[in-house]
Amino acid sequence: MATNHLTVEAAYRDKFPQSASLYERGKTVFPSGITHDARYLLPFPVFVKEAHGSRKTSVEGHSIIDYWVGHGALLLGHGRREVVEAVQQQMARGTHFSANHELEIEWGERVKRLVPSAERVRFTSSGTEATLMAVRVARLVTNRTKVVKLIGHFHGWHDQLVLAAYAPYTPDDWSMPGVSPGVVSDLVAVPPNDLKAIEQAFQEHRPACCILEPTGGHWGLVPVQGEYLRGLRELCTRYDVLLIFDEVISGFRVHPGGAQGHYGITPDMTTMAKILAGGLPGGALAGRRDLLEAIEFGNQYGKKMKHPGTFNGNPLSAAAGCAALDLLADGVACQQANRLTGKLRQQLNALFVRKSVPWIAYGEFSMCHILPGYTGHNPVSADFIPCDGDYRKLDREQPAALKFAFRSALLTCGVDWFGWSGMTSSAHTEDDLEETVAAFDRMLSMLQADGLI
Ligand SMILES: Cc1ncc(COP(=O)(O)O)c(C=O)c1O
Repeated sequence: MATNHLTVEAAYRDKFPQSASLYERGKTVFPSGITHDARYLLPFPVFVKEAHGSRKTSVEGHSIIDYWVGHGALLLGHGRREVVEAVQQQMARGTHFSANHELEIEWGERVKRLVPSAERVRFTSSGTEATLMAVRVARLVTNRTKVVKLIGHFHGWHDQLVLAAYAPYTPDDWSMPGVSPGVVSDLVAVPPNDLKAIEQAFQEHRPACCILEPTGGHWGLVPVQGEYLRGLRELCTRYDVLLIFDEVISGFRVHPGGAQGHYGITPDMTTMAKILAGGLPGGALAGRRDLLEAIEFGNQYGKKMKHPGTFNGNPLSAAAGCAALDLLADGVACQQANRLTGKLRQQLNALFVRKSVPWIAYGEFSMCHILPGYTGHNPVSADFIPCDGDYRKLDREQPAALKFAFRSALLTCGVDWFGWSGMTSSAHTEDDLEETVAAFDRMLSMLQADGLI
């Protein structure tokens, strides 16, 4: 079996030799040779030299269908002409004025128009900063310290919310290397899709706020089920707990108004990033006017939340953000990506059944998750939630050998998949879909030949 396993690795090494040597060089500069944990791949990650539409080109010149789409930031695909031109024009005018500028207002006005909860907006440089800010504002406004989050929901890497974001989930030992136990003790993590657990946490801890990814942890790896969001909204109002939707992924992706626009449920505050800035760095906190007043000088609270940030509302991100939000405002781009991804989920499921592979593809909107080692019924559907939505079954660590072989075999077959999950853009086509299913077919044969499945 060990000898066979070289088959995937040998094919991968054969196809991406320049990437292998760039990785060796990168390792002399960066820890593990990478600049984002999710890009870690053994024996080495593929290096990309350019990207257009739905595809990236590796340094070796191979065309690869991209399901990372800028970690979710590129709903419109790579290098959308209108976005590129807007940034080029702004670049010529200036990249940082250390001053207010009209484009930041236009950017914020677009957010207000599209996102139901956005009475006021404050830009940040990333989603991590936005969720950090949301929690700080909630604490200042309520004079309470505890925060409720859902197990398996990811809100960036800052200390306040990093706990309980990665499998395996061991509630008896909530800790995170490098995070002080004092910070950890302010966080209450409860299982997803369990309103009773939320209510109990609200009664027991009287938190300032409750934050969640409104389409489910890790962009729907564990989907939010049915009326859960509505029930949560009602509980937050009843117990006077601020409800924060982290729409860093779902914002402008599932619907121009995010999950709140799709479901018609308005949180008190919303965090955004990724698509918001059209593929450039940028984030935002938006929400009720009285809450964002915490950042105002001379506010009703008699204390102000300090909020500097060198690149807040920077002109390049504002230019890209305005162009992108204009292009997606009519909902067509979101619908295109949603429809195509539904088809992809269904066709992958048909493939898994055809090849007798115990895997299932599932998810909602423009997100597609693959669950290996699934032994239940596969109804070959685009909308089925396996394992009754149980987060312990859907969100678990897979064997490292399988994980790396899956991704590297798929790359060898011309598809870049975001871990076990993928997202599409409006630039993805029916032809891409067909090629992707064929690539999955070949990848599965490679894993079978290596004895991995
Ligand atoms: C739901 C969610 N919140 C927050 C973040 C952090 O955003 P950033 O990577 O821009 O700091 C992410 C990043 O993937 C995310 O998916």
